[in-house]
Amino acid sequence: MTVLVTGGAGYIGSHTVRSLGESGREVVVLDSLETGHSEALLGADLVVGEIADFDLVTKLCRERNVRSIVHFAAYKSVGESMSHPLRYFSNNVGGSTALIDAAVAAGVEQFVFSSSAAVYGSPARVPVTEDLLPRPESVYAETKWMVERVLSWIGETRGLRSVCLRYFNAAGASFDSAIGEDWSVTTNLVPIVMKATLGKRPPLEVFGSDYPTRDGTGERDYIHVVDLAEGHVKALDYLDVGKPSLTCNLGTGKGSTVLEVLSATERISGCGVPHVFSARRAGDPAVVFADPSLAERELGWRARYGIEEILQTAWTWHSTHVDGY
Ligand SMILES: NC(=O)c1ccc[n+]([C@@H]2O[C@H](COP(=O)([O-])OP(=O)(O)OC[C@H]3O[C@@H](n4cnc5c(N)ncnc54)[C@H](O)[C@@H]3O)[C@@H](O)[C@H]2O)c1
Repeated sequence: MTVLVTGGAGYIGSHTVRSLGESGREVVVLDSLETGHSEALLGADLVVGEIADFDLVTKLCRERNVRSIVHFAAYKSVGESMSHPLRYFSNNVGGSTALIDAAVAAGVEQFVFSSSAAVYGSPARVPVTEDLLPRPESVYAETKWMVERVLSWIGETRGLRSVCLRYFNAAGASFDSAIGEDWSVTTNLVPIVMKATLGKRPPLEVFGSDYPTRDGTGERDYIHVVDLAEGHVKALDYLDVGKPSLTCNLGTGKGSTVLEVLSATERISGCGVPHVFSARRAGDPAVVFADPSLAERELGWRARYGIEEILQTAWTWHSTHVDGY
């Protein structure tokens, strides 16, 4: 039995491909390489193609005896999703429904989906639990919520069991620095902090210094990419023993403010992080962090690493790969 990993040449996908290999699973990756890198696969099996290609996916699933799919392939920029909404609906929703259609046609039984804490919008309370009604505040978040709904209905009507994982803020790199994030395709805080520290971009803008937090800057739940990868292995273990569909958070349950990220980066790197303060951005909540207890209870998963390991591995990766792969 093989696991098909879509988007496996991307940031979170490549760490997961590695963890799946280490768990003894046979893996094949389907990736268009639009934002991913074949080098990130460290030799894992790659098919270059589109998730929306029904014939390719059904053939691949049948030939390779695929029983499970882990689906990362998507566009992920919140800002770009607002300026190019149909690009996002087309790839993230249209691509995913075509993939699910092909998966069901080829007899795939289980599916793990990369969802996002963005589905909660500005959460009414923290820590964020899964029973909060999703209220997407961007096209990107809406696409994630739509695919969750599609999976719920396909589970009900066609028996495809799924785990939807709502990631909080993925960050960090592998501990041996073999793989990490491509800062040219991300708008996430940690790679931008690293880029500014290395003098590869203008000073970082800190949006808002008057939030009701410890130091006035926004607080988020940063989760190590290696922990996230292990969450996917646990999700497959869960599905492998026949358990029912599940939606759960993958976060640490602990937040760090922007200024805490900057001061820890300065300590780790020994360099100042050039930054300027700007006004708050519309729609940015003050504090968001997960209640990860459902994942612990149902998947037996819990984050092992914290912000120190995230920033240490991110710094080592970025400072040794300033030009990427
Ligand atoms: N990075 C985060 O903080 C974060 C947080 C929450 C959710 N997510 C979700 O996790 C998933 C992976 O994110 P990432 O940070 O690794 O992104 P990434 O851009 O590094 O990886 C996405 C991969 O998908 C591939 N891809 C995109 N469209 C494709 C298509 N139509 N067919 C085949 N391949 C395609 C890209 O080439 C790339 O390798 C995404 O679904 C993203 O929305 C990411």
